[in-house]
Amino acid sequence: MHHVTDKDGLHRETLILGEGAVLCDRRLDTPINPPVYLSTAFCVDTLDELQELHKAQGYSYIRTRNPNRNMLSEMISYLEGGEQSLVFSSGMAAITTAISAHVKAGDHILADDTLYGETMQFIEDVMPSYGVEITMTDFTNIENVKANIRPNTKVVFSEVVTNPTIKVIDVAAVAEIAHGAGACYIVDNTFTTSFVIKPLDLGADIAVNSLTKFANGHSDVCAGAATGNAKAMDKIWQRQKLVGGILDPFSAYLCQRGMRTMDVRLERQCKNAAALAKALESCPYVEKVLHPSLASHPQKATALKQFKGDVCGAMLSFYMPENWQKINEFMAKLRVPHYAMTLGGYRTSLSYPIISSHSGVSKEEREALGITDGLMRISVGMENTEDLVNDFLQALDVFGR
Ligand SMILES: Cc1ncc(COP(=O)(O)O)c(C=O)c1O
Repeated sequence: MHHVTDKDGLHRETLILGEGAVLCDRRLDTPINPPVYLSTAFCVDTLDELQELHKAQGYSYIRTRNPNRNMLSEMISYLEGGEQSLVFSSGMAAITTAISAHVKAGDHILADDTLYGETMQFIEDVMPSYGVEITMTDFTNIENVKANIRPNTKVVFSEVVTNPTIKVIDVAAVAEIAHGAGACYIVDNTFTTSFVIKPLDLGADIAVNSLTKFANGHSDVCAGAATGNAKAMDKIWQRQKLVGGILDPFSAYLCQRGMRTMDVRLERQCKNAAALAKALESCPYVEKVLHPSLASHPQKATALKQFKGDVCGAMLSFYMPENWQKINEFMAKLRVPHYAMTLGGYRTSLSYPIISSHSGVSKEEREALGITDGLMRISVGMENTEDLVNDFLQALDVFGR
């Protein structure tokens, strides 16, 4: 019915709405690159066809399913090593939908105390208003996880490498405790990506990602994903349909394009991060460097167990003297990186946590977490290693004047 073949008696006003809507060409089935399905719905000719469509879980309405979202989801399931994935309009949509699909009033969430700020706000501020109990504790001490798990714990949540203090969480150890209590362990893999680690292989139940960052890597898309087994993902899909945080087809297309080169980018970015961390550690004006590749990292044993050598992510932080004026001069003298309110792009970017991610946290509280006025976070890019290292070292010379 939707494709008019018999034009007899139909007028221009009618035909202008349907002409050219369907092209019949065998080669259209084999494009080298998938097209963008910018269509809010797919049509059927009969009720029988509609029933078939529902049974086969085919494409009907954009919020329920879309080919570009499905193609991206399949790619992510492969990369994360999970049965199924769903993609969302942001990392936060993936995180909040995955968590809320697994808890109800009276349940308990146990989470690490260093999480992306908005994830923290969702767990600490929003979840209790729905009657969910919460405990935040430092997961780097596994005894804290054991001590705080409860019979009603339904979700355990952590990142792999945290922001901005680069703590490394022992995913396998946390998974074992979560499963002992029958809880679902959700791991945010944004900082590390599936190139560095596959949390599901280490026992996590769901891996969530902000694809906005390293996965897409081109700083042009906001997107998120959740990956897990079919049962968990069905729960999340039912919730996603209601909450509606779906990824639009064009962003899904762009994201898939970005992710095709993810491993090549990440390999280079991790190598650059390890080299920069080493160089910064030997700079006399740098007080401390936090990167899992360094022997000095506080969770080095976990890093060695969990990561392959220096392939341990492209996020690092370092401490400079707490001198606002000198830090300004240092930033102005840098030529290669830029300051940006995001991370994970192909270019190196800086972030100053006390006036960005932790601007709402009191000085005492943030200093207890190690977030001082001298802390700078770096998302390392794909630049030539020597250019990058030399640029940081020449800019740090301002502290010697
Ligand atoms: C670790 C981590 N998780 C989740 C998010 C949220 O992602 P999005 O901005 O795509 O919602 C971010 C954003 O910076 C992040 O750094």
